[in-house]
Amino acid sequence: MRARIIYESMFGNTAAVAEAIAQGLSEYAEVEVVNVLAAAEVCGPALHLLVVGGPTHAFGLSRPQTRRDAAKLTDAPIATDFGVREWLDCAPAVSAGHRALAFGTKVAKPPWLSGSAARGIGKRLRRLGYSLADQPVDFIVEGTTGPLSPGELDCARVWARRTAHTELDRIVHHT
Ligand SMILES: Cc1cc2nc3c(=O)[nH]c(=O)nc-3n(C[C@H](O)[C@H](O)[C@H](O)COP(=O)(O)O)c2cc1C
Repeated sequence: MRARIIYESMFGNTAAVAEAIAQGLSEYAEVEVVNVLAAAEVCGPALHLLVVGGPTHAFGLSRPQTRRDAAKLTDAPIATDFGVREWLDCAPAVSAGHRALAFGTKVAKPPWLSGSAARGIGKRLRRLGYSLADQPVDFIVEGTTGPLSPGELDCARVWARRTAHTELDRIVHHT
């Protein structure tokens, strides 16, 4: 099974979740982890599972303005014009049977106040024709720049391992 994880991250938290998901998937799949800024150059063999993740900004996926706001909080260079939102806007539609997973990070505030990048990504993936291998999942950070809450990386690993196992089962049994 081949999987690719495409992620956006301002302060490293979503990147860390992407790596944990890669660890979980790698028990059953060949996995590639790609920063969305390099994703345009990535092509190659057909995938069994596309995984897309990003940080929640202003209740949904980041935009140039929210990335500019994020850039004020770190010395690390941040690309403000391109992220998962723009990548998904340009991604080609797929035929039936293509599988994907959506994840995100967000603060622990009450869920009804925090929004969800994962849900937004899931909605866009479905619009492109993907069926989701599981519900979109958000992992929690303790503040805007992190860190991730204790146990979140373990949750990401376990989620990915379980999903990869189910997907492999589907492939083997052609369901
Ligand atoms: C401009 C901006 C807007 C944000 N808006 C939200 C929000 O609406 N809901 C939320 O839960 N978190 C919000 N956050 C917190 C981010 O979700 C958090 O910075 C992110 O999960 C950290 O992941 P990263 O290190 O991969 O960028 C916001 C952060 C920034 C910088």
